[in-house]
Amino acid sequence: MSRDLREWLEEVEANDLLERIDAEVDWDEEMAAITYMRHRERDAPALLFENVRGYPDDYRVLFNMFSSSSARLALTMNESPDASDLELIRHAREKLSASVDPEYVAPDSASVYENTQTGEDVDVTKFPAPKMWPKDGGRYIGTADATIHRDPETGILNVGTYRQMIQGEREVGLYTSPGKDLRIDMQHQWERDEPLEVAAVYGVLPELFVAGSMSPSKDESELHHAGGIRGSPIEVVEGSATDLPIPAHAEIVVEGKLYPNDMKPEGPFGEFTGYYGRPKDDTPVLSIEAVHHRDRPILTSSLMADYPGNDATYFYGLGRSAGIWNDIEDKLGIPGVTGVYCPPASMGVGMTFVSVDQQYAGHASQVASIAAQCPNGAYFSKFIVVVDDDIDVTDIDQVLWAMSTRANPEDDLDTLTDTWSTWLDPAQNPPEERPYGSKVLVDATKNHQHYDEFAERSALHEATYRHVADRWAEYGFDDEPPELPMLVEDDELRQN
Ligand SMILES: Cc1cc2nc3c(=O)[nH]c(=O)nc-3n(C[C@H](O)[C@H](O)[C@H](O)COP(=O)(O)O)c2cc1C
Repeated sequence: MSRDLREWLEEVEANDLLERIDAEVDWDEEMAAITYMRHRERDAPALLFENVRGYPDDYRVLFNMFSSSSARLALTMNESPDASDLELIRHAREKLSASVDPEYVAPDSASVYENTQTGEDVDVTKFPAPKMWPKDGGRYIGTADATIHRDPETGILNVGTYRQMIQGEREVGLYTSPGKDLRIDMQHQWERDEPLEVAAVYGVLPELFVAGSMSPSKDESELHHAGGIRGSPIEVVEGSATDLPIPAHAEIVVEGKLYPNDMKPEGPFGEFTGYYGRPKDDTPVLSIEAVHHRDRPILTSSLMADYPGNDATYFYGLGRSAGIWNDIEDKLGIPGVTGVYCPPASMGVGMTFVSVDQQYAGHASQVASIAAQCPNGAYFSKFIVVVDDDIDVTDIDQVLWAMSTRANPEDDLDTLTDTWSTWLDPAQNPPEERPYGSKVLVDATKNHQHYDEFAERSALHEATYRHVADRWAEYGFDDEPPELPMLVEDDELRQN
């Protein structure tokens, strides 16, 4: 059997990245409050709640699988927990491009089939779904989820992470932002007056959660990317109520249908922006026909909050950085990009920093426009900043320095209007004007027209750096000498 959530938790716990809470807690705001308060600092542990009031002791809830922890993301990708953000982005580039077919297993070896209820016996209220924020419209069973459907035109299997609020024992409301794959396919299906089949995983495999949150182009399947992330196929089993594959060792899965125009009021919900998103509004209803779960099931939940409490923004930002880099370089063949970073404090979506080794006139501007509008980068981004390759895009101080010294606002800002955004953007008002957005492209590179005469960066003489680094311990410093972004060689000094 390939790695499941439980094995992942063992690894995470062995690395001191998990805390179990066996004190009794309430589903009603308490689990979310503990998570928010425990996650005010970066790298806080994942929290496993083992005793939720009113529920059997063996029904557990895992909050913030990733949060802002680079080590937990690295373990998921089978990389070293010490990897830097830029190293993880480079690894993610490869892994998200790899496409590994899922592997079907027989139903009797699928642990998700340990318990099944169908028809009238379906009752999703038996799981300890949390209400997160005081003004939330209900209890959210789906936040750290992976929602599977098939594109009816192409047959491609899509996985997306979409929030899901309990509407009743056999119904959840499923919110998708405009332009998201499930929403597009549901609309096509409804135009034919046919329902769309959906399988929603509420106790998710970590790599499926990561892949489902990414936005590759519509002709790619995140189920295959999830296999790429883990480096082996995702084991699936045929669904019993739909024609969809379901992850064979998931904790909790429901199968159901979105019937044409079956909508109910849903939300509001304290969102990943750190605000309540759009006001309460009609959302498609998923009518559930079957529930499957393992013995002692673990419901996976993500707190949506301002950074760093948010479960989604760190890993989302890193995956998105890798996706944008792949779109620019691998899909479009644009050379010279040396780094891409969507900072987690910008929710992993609001800002994109790209560094480029400028090779021709217009290169920086071309990179900025593509980063702004490529499939992985277009949604909700507002500030796209391009810097030269001596700047480390994962170091916000260096990016701010480049913006302050290399950008001239009257020349170096361009605005795009009516771009892809979301109902959840609090800056667009009144809310009815959403989901159109706008973006500013900031060229914070040395301007290409004057590249050779651009003020020279003060940098250490290479021989001096080596001399000082060699004597570092002699000066009484007990750490390693820092690496520097730039050094000047002897020859260059003589020319200048
Ligand atoms: C924890 C979490 C919750 C999310 N909730 C939603 C949501 O409720 N609706 C939505 O449209 N996107 C949501 N997203 C973003 C989507 O998962 C993401 O845009 C993904 O690309 C959608 O898949 P698709 O490109 O196949 O449509 C969420 C992401 C994460 C990580």
